[in-house]
Amino acid sequence: MNILITGGAGYIGSHTCVELLNAGYNIVVVDNLSNSSQLSLHRVRKITGKDFLFYKADIRDKNALETIFHDNQIGAVIHFAGLKAVGESVSMPLKYYQNNVAGTVTLCEVMEKHGVFHLVFSSSATVYGEQECVPVNEDSTLHATNPYGRTKLMIEDILRDLSNSDSNWSVALLRYFNPVGAHESGRIGEDPNGLPNNLVPYITQVAVGKLSELQVFGSDYPTADGTGVRDYIHVVDLAVGHIKALDKVLFSKGINAYNLGTGNGYSVLEMVHAFEEVIGRPIPYRLCVRRPGDIAISYADVRKAKLELGWEATKGINEMCKDSWRWQVENPNGYKEKYSEKMK
Ligand code: NAD
Ligand code: UD1
Repeated sequence: MNILITGGAGYIGSHTCVELLNAGYNIVVVDNLSNSSQLSLHRVRKITGKDFLFYKADIRDKNALETIFHDNQIGAVIHFAGLKAVGESVSMPLKYYQNNVAGTVTLCEVMEKHGVFHLVFSSSATVYGEQECVPVNEDSTLHATNPYGRTKLMIEDILRDLSNSDSNWSVALLRYFNPVGAHESGRIGEDPNGLPNNLVPYITQVAVGKLSELQVFGSDYPTADGTGVRDYIHVVDLAVGHIKALDKVLFSKGINAYNLGTGNGYSVLEMVHAFEEVIGRPIPYRLCVRRPGDIAISYADVRKAKLELGWEATKGINEMCKDSWRWQVENPNGYKEKYSEKMK
């Protein structure tokens, strides 16, 4: 039996491929490489010493998916493929509805046709919108504030409808908090296109000298130091969470949402100081106005994942910073400029 990984060449997907291969699963990867490089998969093979099939295809291409399901014995799908830039989703909403929502519908149609009903889906804490109380649990009201978030909400609804319509379906909706860090080998990590939107890649690019200073968005939030608080989770912990969720969907029915976070919140300045400790020098920053659309505090109630999946995060803030930093230093331009690296 093979596990199909959509979007497996991306940041979280590539780390999950490593953990799956190390755990003895056979995988098949499909990715259109719209936001990734095939080099990540080459490195997954190097890290694990294991091989797997890769299809460069779009999940909206039904014929391509048909071929993948026909030619490989797919037993379950871990579905990462999607676009994730909040700002871009505001200016190009149709691109997001088409890629994320229509793509998922096509994937589910092909799964159904081939009798594959086990699915782990990459949702996001963004589905909680502005949270009234923290830590936020899976029963909180759902509310998206931008088109990207609405694609996640819509897909969650579609998967709930599917599950209600046919009891064969077994689905885990994984609501990630703030994934950061990289594999400890320094060989795979996050490779943002252009100017990073997210805090950690921005900090590491300032630290490495590519950017001059960090703008801290807001210092008047109702938090201990006035800066925004988030639940940062190491991407390898997150990857392991997918294996636990896969084990759950393979041996049960129905649909369940799980928060994947650490349950701890860190402020922007705490993150800056944690990085300074790892790097051994100050990171230039400036306190600025709030970023529109940002919330003050977000961190997860992680009890459900612990109870039902037997999973909890193990890596702390120091490891997150150390591993992000190693990846940045060893790959200052991400996967770019390394196309000459020999691909098998
Ligand atoms: P990523 O962009 O690194 O990976 C997504 C992968 O999907 C990329 O390799 C991209 O090329 C591929 N892809 C996109 N559309 C596709 C399509 N139509 N067909 C085939 N492949 C396609 O992003 P990531 O950070 O690894 O995120 C993975 C998933 O997790 C996404 O669905 C994202 O929305 C979700 N998520 C990410 C975060 C985060 O902060 N990184 C937080 C919450 C949820
Ligand atoms: C962002 C996304 C969200 C996604 C999440 C997961 C937005 C509006 N939201 O949320 O949909 O699910 O990532 O990774 O993009 N910050 C700075 N300076 C910076 C960048 C960020 O001070 O240059 C601050 C932010 O104000 C926030 C914290 O750092 O307080 C984290 O920001 P970020 O990494 O962008 O994540 P989120 O805002 O949580």
